[in-house]
Amino acid sequence: MTGLFITLEGGDGSGKSTQSALLATWLEENGQTVVLSREPGGTELGLELRDIILHRRGYIDPRAEALLYAADRAHNIATKVRPALERGDVVLQDRYIDSSVAYQGAGRVLDPTEVRDVSFWATEGLLPDLTILLDLDERVSQERLKDRTKYDRLEEEKQEFHARVRAGYLELAAAEPERFLVLQATDSVETLAAVIRERVAELLAGASTEQPQ
Ligand code: TYD
Repeated sequence: MTGLFITLEGGDGSGKSTQSALLATWLEENGQTVVLSREPGGTELGLELRDIILHRRGYIDPRAEALLYAADRAHNIATKVRPALERGDVVLQDRYIDSSVAYQGAGRVLDPTEVRDVSFWATEGLLPDLTILLDLDERVSQERLKDRTKYDRLEEEKQEFHARVRAGYLELAAAEPERFLVLQATDSVETLAAVIRERVAELLAGASTEQPQ
């Protein structure tokens, strides 16, 4: 595969979509074809699943929740992301497997290795070239979201849940320092964007000198 797969991760309200939009503009200005995606909901089927996962009233069993995210992911990777990477595009995706390990593993307290393995099966083991983690204290995150009138099922969870999610993310990043770029989400939008651009520029330079396989 010749494209680049970049994912953005972090708690709710950490600024992923702002950074994704800025990075997409910069990449396009530099001649790259960018495909934007998100999970859940990167495809038509995914939008239906997103509605169920985030807005269905009533209890959803944690394993069922994990499988719904994995089903969305399987379809998104097979029908949207892999074809884009095969064309040589840059895929910028809001959330991926690390979200499941952090939210369903650390947050819902399912076995993180099992959660990851379900997603590996779903995606035939596709890992991102780079994962940008916008780390944010869960109290700041709640403060940022407090003016919203509607919360989804995950956002409604208590602060302890979001503290576990954050710790789960930091553990993942510590285990794979090569793949993760960990940033403080409280830094200014422009500072964050500049650091991200620098790292992506390095990746692009590396990709263009690689021998085709
Ligand atoms: P999202 O669309 O990412 O909104 P935002 O990041 O702007 O809050 O919301 C998706 C929610 O789903 C978010 O709370 C995280 C959660 N989620 C999981 O619990 N597991 C997953 O695998 C994914 C992809 C998301």
